[in-house]
Formats: sequence, structure tokens, C-alpha cells
Amino acid sequence: MSILLLSGSPAAPSSTGRLLDHVGDKLAALGHRRSKLQVRDLPAKALLHADFTDLAIKRAVDAVAEAEAIVVATPVYKASYTGILKAFLDLLPQDGLKDKLVLPLATGGSQSHMLALDYALRPVLQSLEARQVLTSIYATSQQLTWNDVSGLTLDQAIAWRVQDGVDALSAALNVLRQQADDVFVTQAQPVRLAR
Ligand SMILES: Cc1cc2nc3c(=O)[nH]c(=O)nc-3n(C[C@H](O)[C@H](O)[C@H](O)COP(=O)(O)O)c2cc1C
Repeated sequence: MSILLLSGSPAAPSSTGRLLDHVGDKLAALGHRRSKLQVRDLPAKALLHADFTDLAIKRAVDAVAEAEAIVVATPVYKASYTGILKAFLDLLPQDGLKDKLVLPLATGGSQSHMLALDYALRPVLQSLEARQVLTSIYATSQQLTWNDVSGLTLDQAIAWRVQDGVDALSAALNVLRQQADDVFVTQAQPVRLAR
């Protein structure tokens, strides 16, 4: 069980992907295992035709099913999340996010569409029965600076916001794991036989 970093950006290189990697590195530093899935890497025809017989599609859907938590990242395109992310979410079963924690993440060209995650993506995540959708993280292009040598630098304000989001996801995951352990211990109590 691990955290799935799900990127819905069609671009490469991608600002969203860089921010997502940054979040993944921070989660890894807190001891969490993470894996990455980029929707853009899936076979386009199989994605658009919802071809569940395609092995890559099957593996991607399984990766979601196996994750405890998902960081869903998207650029804002036309005031919403991307079409390829929707195409992928449409492949999931109706309760495809059941029991999972979800941290939504977006990058956009300006602050104008910073609510896109909350008015557009959040209802979809909730309809997929996510256990908890954490407070979204939104960064503008101006808050992210890329350097081929030093990598990604975040403005102070977004750096704090990212840290809060990472800490919240990590804490919620730890609570979830503790609860799962408690259930296991309770169920594992030896049955006392009456004499
Ligand atoms: C097709 C397209 C549509 C966009 N629409 C918006 C928009 O409506 N609002 C906004 O704030 N930024 C918009 N942007 C800017 C991107 O959200 C921003 O540059 C983002 O960081 C790109 O991330 P990426 O590198 O992962 O694609 C748009 C960019 C593209 C290419």
C-alpha cells in the first residue's frame, strides 16, 4: 500500500508534474512509499475508448485500487481540470476512491481559476466515494521557478501551503494505518473456549 501520484497533465515537461514530484519527495521524506502514474503515458485510443482489455489501462486502474492515498494533480485548462484526467477518472468504478485519502493539486496561469479544483474536481472525487478529500493546493506559474540544475523552487507562500498539505496527508494516513492495525489486533484476539 502506498501513495499514488496521479498526474493529469498532457504536457512534458510539466509544471504540474514538477510540483507533484516535489510533493512526492516530501511524502517520501516522511517515510511514505509512493508510485507515479501519468495519464499522458496511457495509450490514447484505449483511454478514449475506455478499453478495459488494454493491459496499460488495467494496470493504471489497479494502481488506483491498490493505493491508500492519491495526490491528484492537474493544470487548469479552460477554467477546469484537464480532459485527459476526466477520461481516466471515468474509467474507475463508481466507488473507485472508496476508503482513500485524496489530496488535490493544481497549477494555473493566474489566481483567477484557483477555485477550479473545488468547484470542478472535488465533486467528482467525492462522487467516487473518497474517504477524505483534503484541502486543495493551488500554485500559479509565477510561484514556481524551474532550474535545470537546482530543480524546482517554490515561493514562500506556496511552499508553506505545500508543507501543510503534505503534513495533513501524512497525519491522516498514519491515523488510518493505526485504525487498521487496531482492527487487526481486535480481530486477532484468541477465542476463549468455555470449559
Ligand atoms: C490549453 C490551456 C488552457 C489553459 N487554461 C487556463 C485557464 O483557464 N486558467 C489558468 O489559470 N491557466 C490556464 N492555463 C495555464 C496553465 O494552467 C498553466 O500554465 C499550468 O501551470 C500548466 O501546467 P502543465 O505544464 O502541467 O501543463 C492554460 C494552459 C493551456 C495550455
